[in-house]
Amino acid sequence: MQFNLAVLPGDGIGPEVATEGIKVLQAIGERFDHSFNLHYGLVGGVAIDETGTALPPDTLKMCRGCDAVLLAAVGGPKWDDPKAKVRPEDGLLALRKELGLFANLRPVKVSPVLVDSTNLKPEVIQGVDFIFVRELTGGLYFARPKRQWQTSRGRRATDSMTYSEQEIERIVRVGFELARGRRKKLTSVDKANVLESSRLWRQVAMEVAKKYPDVELEHMLVDACAMRLIQRPTYFDVIVTENMFGDILTDEASMLAGSMGMLPSASLAGVPQEGVNIFGMYEPIHGSAPRRAGLDMANPIAIILSIAMMLRYSFGLVKEAQTIETAVDEVLSQGYRTYDIMGEGKIRAGTREMGNLIAEKVGG
Ligand code: IPM
Ligand code: MG
Repeated sequence: MQFNLAVLPGDGIGPEVATEGIKVLQAIGERFDHSFNLHYGLVGGVAIDETGTALPPDTLKMCRGCDAVLLAAVGGPKWDDPKAKVRPEDGLLALRKELGLFANLRPVKVSPVLVDSTNLKPEVIQGVDFIFVRELTGGLYFARPKRQWQTSRGRRATDSMTYSEQEIERIVRVGFELARGRRKKLTSVDKANVLESSRLWRQVAMEVAKKYPDVELEHMLVDACAMRLIQRPTYFDVIVTENMFGDILTDEASMLAGSMGMLPSASLAGVPQEGVNIFGMYEPIHGSAPRRAGLDMANPIAIILSIAMMLRYSFGLVKEAQTIETAVDEVLSQGYRTYDIMGEGKIRAGTREMGNLIAEKVGG
């Protein structure tokens, strides 16, 4: 089959890891006889430098014309001034909003071979396998109004959390659909003891639950969830939550897997259901790691696993997705490690070598 893919390498280590991801994708293409047409575009800091805006109209147009988008990373100290008019992150937020990518999937799976490279006790980490569903186009991030102003008693600023029942309904459905294909347990995370938007969230979640009698729904307050993630992470199967809570909890959860460099994500424009291909943007969870840029150090596994998610959700290529996931496991089992997951007696690999090893395995 033929697919069109928008590739946005972005900033910092972005271009390096994107190259390795594409290498693995091409290996899939050769082995399974698919062709992936790549369309490169600018986003983030590089886009600001070249065009003055974080998401040039050409890039957005190109993304709309493709079957999926692969984004590596945006941002860096060069563009970090809090008073700056444009920032690289604006490009990412605009892409999410403009492409309608409301459902952000962030799986957290601890590979048995990496149990030792985390800060938590092996017995707590062993067997962790859950997925976060984070609402991505609403809440505080896209608050109206969002501004700072001067009053007679000093400056004030506001961002308020607003959700419509439609926004809640569609994201909660994503949680239920995923839970249905897994261990059938959905944890909906909110702050219903304090926030009105959370009380609406909870009501809608209970209404949607009626259509999924086979899935167990529970509600958990966000502070309790933050604690439970460290205390007993194996407790969770699927977690659904609003944008800001999801942002914070997924960084916390990423530490369970040892390194941000291991975790992929998918941002989808629809509810994933078997046999349906959904437009999506795929990106590693990690940032642009400017201090590691250009050193052939960064771990490309997160973007490689993001490509596996793309094959599964946007291209309907499940066997191909599994081929990538298995290849990653095999290379790790052989002892190869990038610096972020390095351990005693392991073989140190750079970005390129890790990409080559995985691509070779994928090639069969
Ligand atoms: C993430 C990131 C982004 C977010 C930033 C870069 C805007 O932290 O994808 O989690 O807050 O959503
Ligand atoms: Mg974040």
